[in-house]
Amino acid sequence: MVSLKFLSILPAILASVPLIASAPAEGRTHNGKTTAARPTVYPHPLNTGKKFPDSPRRTKTCFIDALGGGQDDGPQILAAAKKCNNGGTLAFLDDLYTIGSPLDLTFLKHVDFDIQGTLKFTDDIDFWIRNQFHYYYQNITSFWQIGGEDVNMFGSGKGVIDGSGQKWYDMYDVQKLNTTFLRPMLIVFDGIKGGQVSGLKFRNSPNWNTFIGNSSDMIFDNMRIEAASTSKIQAKNTDGFDTYRSDNIVIQNSDVNNGDDCVSLRGNSTNILIQSLHCNGSHGISVGSLGQYYQNQDIVENVYVFNITMENASDGARIKAWPGIFGEAIPGWVGGGGTGYVNNVTYDTMLLNNVDLAIEITQCYGQKNLTACNEAPSSLEIKNVFFHGFYGVASKKYDPQVGSLICSSPSVCHDIHAWNINVLSPTAKAPYYSCYNMDTSLLGFTCKALT
Ligand SMILES: *[C@@H]1O[C@H](CO)[C@@H](O)[C@H](O)[C@H]1NC(C)=O
Ligand SMILES: *[C@@H]1O[C@H](CO)[C@@H](O)[C@H](O)[C@H]1NC(C)=O
Ligand SMILES: *[C@@H]1O[C@H](CO)[C@@H](O)[C@H](O)[C@H]1NC(C)=O
Ligand SMILES: *[C@@H]1O[C@H](CO)[C@@H](O)[C@H](O)[C@H]1NC(C)=O
Ligand SMILES: *[C@@H]1O[C@H](CO)[C@@H](O)[C@H](O)[C@H]1NC(C)=O
Ligand SMILES: *[C@@H]1O[C@H](CO)[C@@H](O)[C@H](O)[C@H]1NC(C)=O
Ligand SMILES: *[C@@H]1O[C@H](CO)[C@@H](O)[C@H](O)[C@H]1NC(C)=O
Ligand SMILES: *[C@@H]1O[C@H](CO)[C@@H](O)[C@H](O)[C@H]1NC(C)=O
Ligand SMILES: *[C@@H]1O[C@H](CO)[C@@H](O)[C@H](O)[C@H]1NC(C)=O
Repeated sequence: MVSLKFLSILPAILASVPLIASAPAEGRTHNGKTTAARPTVYPHPLNTGKKFPDSPRRTKTCFIDALGGGQDDGPQILAAAKKCNNGGTLAFLDDLYTIGSPLDLTFLKHVDFDIQGTLKFTDDIDFWIRNQFHYYYQNITSFWQIGGEDVNMFGSGKGVIDGSGQKWYDMYDVQKLNTTFLRPMLIVFDGIKGGQVSGLKFRNSPNWNTFIGNSSDMIFDNMRIEAASTSKIQAKNTDGFDTYRSDNIVIQNSDVNNGDDCVSLRGNSTNILIQSLHCNGSHGISVGSLGQYYQNQDIVENVYVFNITMENASDGARIKAWPGIFGEAIPGWVGGGGTGYVNNVTYDTMLLNNVDLAIEITQCYGQKNLTACNEAPSSLEIKNVFFHGFYGVASKKYDPQVGSLICSSPSVCHDIHAWNINVLSPTAKAPYYSCYNMDTSLLGFTCKALT
C-alpha cells in the first residue's frame, strides 16, 4: 500500500522545467494589425516525464485577409497552408473568417496558426452532412482535420473557433435516432507529432470539440471550451477533449463548459497528463468508453489527473468499459466484447461542487441488466487505479450516495485504491459509495454492497 502511494505521487516530484524552446515574437504588421508572439507552453506544475520536441522559429508569414460578406475563406486558408508549409506562420488577424467547406490540413510541417479573430463554420447542415470527414471510430465526423509534424495554434486569449452549433443541437433532438444524421466535431487533430494549442476559445461545436487521434507529444494550454444551447434543447455530446491512439498528451490550465465528458481518454491513450482544469456541466474526466469493438484491444495506461475543479456535473472521475458480450444499447449505439486494459491511472486532487457521483467505475457500460453483465464479465481489465484528495459536495441526485464502483468480476477489476476522500452529501447525511465485485479493503470510504 505505502509503496504504491509513493509511486502515484512520483510525478509531483518532477520539476516543472520548460521543455520547449520558445520562439521569439515576429511582431509583423499587416493592415494595421500585428502578429502575436508564439507563447511559451510547457507542462506545469507536473509533467509527463517524456520529452516534447523542439519547435524551431518560423521564418515566413502568410497573412490571410478575410473575404467578408459570408464568403467561404476555406480555399484561401488551404492555399496559404500550402504556401507557408515547412516553416511558416498562418496569420489570421481579421475579426471574422467564414468557413463553409471542409479543410484537410493533414500535410503540415513546422507550421504555426496565429489566430486573433473568429473562425466561424457555417451552419448549412445539408452541405456539411454531405461534405464532412468521416472516421471509423464511433462513426465520428468533422469539419476540419489537422495533422503533420510540429504544428502550433495559438489564440493569444482572443482567437475563437466557432462551430455554430445551435441549429445542429435543435436538429439532433429530432434526428437522434437517425444513424445517418452525423454531427461534425469542431477539430480533429489526426496524426500530429509535436504540437501546442493554446489561448483559443472553442465555441458551440455541434459535437465533440477537440479530437486528438493518432497523435503524440501535444500540449493544450489555456483553452476555453464553451458549448451551450440558447433553446430548450441541450447541447448534447459536446465533449471538451478526447484522446484516441495517442501518446504523451498534456491538457492543462483550461476551462470547459459543456454537456458531456470534460475530457475523455479513449482506446490507446498513454502517458496522458490532465491538470488544473475547471469543468462545468460535464460528465467528468473519463477513461472510456473502452471495449466497445468486439475483440479489438483498447489500452489506457499511465494517466495522471491532477487538480481538477468539477462543478454541476454527472461525474467527477469516471472509468467506463463495455461488458464482455456484444449488444445494442440504443439504436446505432452498439458494442461490447472488446479486450485490453486500463492500467496505472491516478486521480489526485479533485474539488467537487454539485456533482452526482464523485467516482464512477462501470464494466457494464451500455448494459443496464446487471445479471446479463455478470454472466459475461468485461474482457477489458481495470487495474492499478488510484483516487485520492477528493473534496467538496455531491449533488442531490442520488443523495446520500456519492459514488458507484461496479465491476463485472473481481478477476478483471482489481487493485483499485482510494484514500483521503471527503466528499459530502448536500443534505449532510452520511455519504456512501455503491460497490460491486470490488476489494473494499482498498477503498477508504463507506461501501454499500449492491444487490
Ligand atoms: C436522416 O438524416 C439524413 C442526413 O441528414 C437525412 O438526409 C434524412 O432525410 C434523415 N432521415 C429522416 C427520416 O429524417
Ligand atoms: C487514425 O489512424 C487510423 C489507421 O490509420 C485511421 O483509420 C483513422 O482514420 C485515423 N484517424 C482517426 C481520427 O481515427
Ligand atoms: C489548480 O488549478 C487552478 C485553476 O483551476 C489554479 O489556479 C491553481 O494554481 C492550480 N493549483 C496547482 C497546485 O497547480
Ligand atoms: C455551468 O453548468 C450549468 C449546468 O449545466 C449551467 O446552467 C451554467 O450556465 C454553466 N455555467 C457557465 C458559466 O457556463
Ligand atoms: C491498441 O494497441 C494495440 C497494441 O499495439 C493494438 O493491438 C490495438 O489494435 C490498438 N487499438 C486501437 C483502438 O488502435
Ligand atoms: C504510472 O504513471 C505515471 C504517470 O502518470 C508514471 O510517472 C509512472 O512511472 C507510472 N508507473 C509505472 C509503474 O509505470
Ligand atoms: C453551477 O450551477 C449553479 C446552479 O445552477 C450555478 O449557480 C453556478 O454558477 C454553476 N457553476 C458555474 C461554474 O457556472
Ligand atoms: C456506424 O453506424 C452504423 C449505423 O448505425 C452501425 O451499424 C455501425 O456499427 C457503426 N460503426 C461503428 C464503427 O461504430
Ligand atoms: C437480464 O438478463 C438475464 C440474464 O441474461 C435475463 O434472464 C433477464 O430476463 C434479463 N432481465 C431483463 C429485465 O431484461
